[in-house]
Amino acid sequence: MLEKDIEKVLISKEEIQARCEELGKELTETYRDKNPLVVGVLKGAVPFMADIVRSIDTYLELDFMDVSSYGNATVSSGEVKIVKDLDTNVEGRDLLIVEDIIDSGRTLAYLVDLFKYRKANSVKIVTLLDKREGRVVDIEADYVGFNVPNEFVVGYGLDYAEAYRNLPYVGVLKPSVYQSN
Ligand code: PRP
Ligand code: MN
Ligand code: MG
Repeated sequence: MLEKDIEKVLISKEEIQARCEELGKELTETYRDKNPLVVGVLKGAVPFMADIVRSIDTYLELDFMDVSSYGNATVSSGEVKIVKDLDTNVEGRDLLIVEDIIDSGRTLAYLVDLFKYRKANSVKIVTLLDKREGRVVDIEADYVGFNVPNEFVVGYGLDYAEAYRNLPYVGVLKPSVYQSN
């Protein structure tokens, strides 16, 4: 039913699954014996968070954070506010932030600074998608699933007006979907 709105599939369910397993192996080595705190950024990171942590074979803990940008979408002030904070004290902890996508980099730059200020021992980033052309702030992920072009992508956590997060793949919407709104 949702598929009728999709112009093309960019990254299939099978490709995502295979990449999660590869990344999981690397992350298992990185975090062995460190009991990392894995931080999912609501809401987009939820599907990737669920898959990536199940491919990491060592002790870890989960927490979630929800942040949002001030202002409207067209003129972003670049400021970020906390909607839901972590439940966990991060001082001395090794943190792995899980994101669905890095675009301007503002969300992650804010979170990395915040966790360093709170004295985390280390802060790394794993993102399913990296839209490098969108970057405004100088920040790079430590682990990237896939690079994506500067197109509006949905699915596997990524929304358009809060819809399509539950698609099992990443795709591009048909222009008619935007035009009808
Ligand atoms: C999206 C996405 C990332 C962020 C990336 O989240 O999930 O968190 O934007 O953009 P940036 O690099 O330009 O900061 P959004 O704020 O739309 O919230 P959502 O995850 O609830 O959709
Ligand atoms: Mn998000
Ligand atoms: Mg969004």
